[in-house]
Amino acid sequence: GGVITIDPGYKNTGSCQSGITFLDGEKGVLRYRGYAIEDLAEKADFLEVAYLLIFGELPTKEQLEKFHKDIKKESVVDDDVKKILDAFPKSAHPMGVLASLTNALTAFNPSSVNVDSEEDMYKAIVKILGKFPVLVAWTMRKKQGLPLDYGDSSLGYVENVLKMMFKQPNEAYTLNPIVVNALDKLLILHADHEQNCSTSTVRIVGSSHAGLFASLAAGISALWGPLHGGANQAVLEMLEGIRQDGGDTKKYMAKAKDKSDPFRLMGFGHRVYKNFDPRATIIKKAADEVLGDLGVEDPILDIAKGLESEALEDKYFVDRKLYPNVDFYSGIIYRAMGIPTEMFTVMFALGRLPGWIAQWREMRLRKEPIGRPRQVYIGENHREFKNISNR
Ligand code: CMC
Repeated sequence: GGVITIDPGYKNTGSCQSGITFLDGEKGVLRYRGYAIEDLAEKADFLEVAYLLIFGELPTKEQLEKFHKDIKKESVVDDDVKKILDAFPKSAHPMGVLASLTNALTAFNPSSVNVDSEEDMYKAIVKILGKFPVLVAWTMRKKQGLPLDYGDSSLGYVENVLKMMFKQPNEAYTLNPIVVNALDKLLILHADHEQNCSTSTVRIVGSSHAGLFASLAAGISALWGPLHGGANQAVLEMLEGIRQDGGDTKKYMAKAKDKSDPFRLMGFGHRVYKNFDPRATIIKKAADEVLGDLGVEDPILDIAKGLESEALEDKYFVDRKLYPNVDFYSGIIYRAMGIPTEMFTVMFALGRLPGWIAQWREMRLRKEPIGRPRQVYIGENHREFKNISNR
């Protein structure tokens, strides 16, 4: 074989050609299919963005209605899935449960596995877009001891998610437009981010022609980690910890800079953004608005702003080009909406779902080869086998 170049963490290795998301980390630019993230977050809704990411064009009114209708038809999961959910302890982390249930959907929908034609892909795609919010809501409700139910087909996609999550037994559920808008925006901002850890996972698992749901379940597991999507939970726990410790942000800044201390400033830094994360800019503004509109006063918002302004003037962070990322302020909004901290990364997964799907579909349509990186072997040379009695 030829010379193999090692690139740990694939910091400088392109794995594919893609026409979905454009990102310029130096300039802080993010576009889905050519549309600026700022425009989409402001003017589109999440389902429109999902359609755009997956199929490449903004939908017409008719296309969007058909897409939504097809999704609604698939918005039930086999009732036996509840038995699986029953077997998990209430203490289980929702991301582990969600990954398991997503994998389990493969067993209940075997026709979603061998999909080669665009038509079969479409069927698998609307299935998962319909069923995933049910799994998200059930995962949360089960933990809270609330009854499990299905959605309300008269509602919009995001409205339906909220109602499935929050409807209390024996109470009418009233949608709050502030919360609907905020969730729409958050989901759009999380919807795709080119070849990040979870997306690369989805593509590589899918490249073996494992089914869509199995590929997505692998993506959910990748997203779970605190260096990736799990950062939103970690940020909130960090901010809450700082608050309980008297709100001394300087102390934690010092810890973050101390190389002998494993503490990192969660929600700071990014592999690609070296100037600012455009998503963080939008989310910071939204956090102020949503908390204001909901009349929520949360002391950790001030702690977050304090940390940000200190970091932006600190040589350590400036030298390393570390800026707040998408996860720094998102948790504060989720918390104001009444979403439990352990569910934050699940909300990220709900938002990232169309991106994962779009990337999987692109990979399959482009007939990409199976993903199979190389290595440079650094282990033992040939050794004589010794019988167990001689070791
Ligand atoms: N706090 C303190 N120091 C940091 C931080 C941080 N949050 N992030 C990076 N550094 C330092 C790091 O120690 C290293 O310093 P040195 O050059 O002295 O060794 C330098 O900055 C470069 O960091 P790196 O870890 O080599 O960079 P990376 O591209 O491998 O990692 C990252 C990127 C996002 C994993 C990292 O910045 C990090 O761990 N951030 C905190 C976790 C986080 O917020 N993750 C969410 C990322 S955005 C959304 C998502 O992907 O889900």
